[in-house]
Amino acid sequence: MTSVLPDHPTMSPIRDPAVLAIVDEVGRSVGDVAGARSLPPAAYTSERFYEFERDAIFRRSWLFLCHVGELPVPGSFQAVTVADEPLLVTRDEHGGIHVVSAVCQHRGYVIAEVDGEARHLRCPYHAWTYGLDGRLLAAPSMAPAHDLDDLKASIRLPSLRVEVWQGLVFANFDPDAEPLAPTLERLTPHVEPYAIEDLVVVDSLTLPDLPFNWKNMQENALEEYHTTYVHRGYHENAPAHLVRHHDFAPGDGAVYRHAGLVQRAGEPLPNFPVFPIPEGLPEELYHQMLFFAVPPLNFAAVEALGIKMFRITPQSAGRTTLTITWMYPRTTVERHDFASLMASQRALVDVIDRPDLESNTRMFRGLRSRFAPRGPYSSQEASLPQLNEWLLERYRSFLAAGMG
Ligand code: FES
Ligand SMILES: [Fe+2]
Repeated sequence: MTSVLPDHPTMSPIRDPAVLAIVDEVGRSVGDVAGARSLPPAAYTSERFYEFERDAIFRRSWLFLCHVGELPVPGSFQAVTVADEPLLVTRDEHGGIHVVSAVCQHRGYVIAEVDGEARHLRCPYHAWTYGLDGRLLAAPSMAPAHDLDDLKASIRLPSLRVEVWQGLVFANFDPDAEPLAPTLERLTPHVEPYAIEDLVVVDSLTLPDLPFNWKNMQENALEEYHTTYVHRGYHENAPAHLVRHHDFAPGDGAVYRHAGLVQRAGEPLPNFPVFPIPEGLPEELYHQMLFFAVPPLNFAAVEALGIKMFRITPQSAGRTTLTITWMYPRTTVERHDFASLMASQRALVDVIDRPDLESNTRMFRGLRSRFAPRGPYSSQEASLPQLNEWLLERYRSFLAAGMG
């Protein structure tokens, strides 16, 4: 089968020696933490390399789009743009989930750019109307120049492969992609006790045009080294020395680590709202957090009391959109004081997430310098050679397949 979307019109970056040289250099960024070096600066800053990643990573990997709870009823849809591809995640009248291109197949208008709810997907430009699964249903005034049945039979919104894992919706442009779940076998048993699929999505925040590369965000999320310094006063309950890293092997679709908590879940903590402990929560989860990434788009900070989910969508080498979503157990959401708990939680964005975004911004500025380093990693950054391994595997398999 061929790709569902047309190829990028310019000459393929896989024939660009500068791109190949960067991939080669990434080979020094993997393996043992003592030997690995940070990624070559151009892997973050080069627009040409970003074009390569668009093909090698974003058109072939499982892309985290939303939680099933964000599609509550038939007709619910979410609008997400990933590396210049506007997409719609929809729930159809039978409850099925679809991911279709949002690009109208008449003349290319983007059908919807914000989330919504509708019986059909109707292009605002000339009112072509599609089913929630992408089928063309109506195209006014196209007859008699065209036979409407022919149009309906031959035109539809291109659709992507969909896979739901633990209540999280992923899609893949590559119709031949290997399924996602088997690549997450190592992570899944750690995630299952949190019953993510049953959580209620209560709030979300989208921050577009952040001035750094998408990998800066994943790295910041995955390493605990900076937490002692950047988050002083807000991270002492999950100190870097209590982190447990896990193995990463070829073929793995996730990078993750556990953080030990000094004070168990539900106990009062200065600066933080105290969320109630959900009933039946397994004892071992009281003392830990789980941080996992299913790259390229997904990162999750998982606590027994609730989850903060991140979707990291690239816009260019130096522009990224971040969406943060909060999800909690239904019993928590139904409490009388939930609104005030959630307001305090939202306020933490300014003291916890903003410093991370500022760090990424300054890191990206530094990476554009002629003096940008290939620095050594601390063992508190052990997740980063793993992330690099995930990247390198995909860069190389794309090149080996001679695609582009
Ligand atoms: S571009 Fe959508 S109906 Fe014409
Ligand atoms: Fe941080």
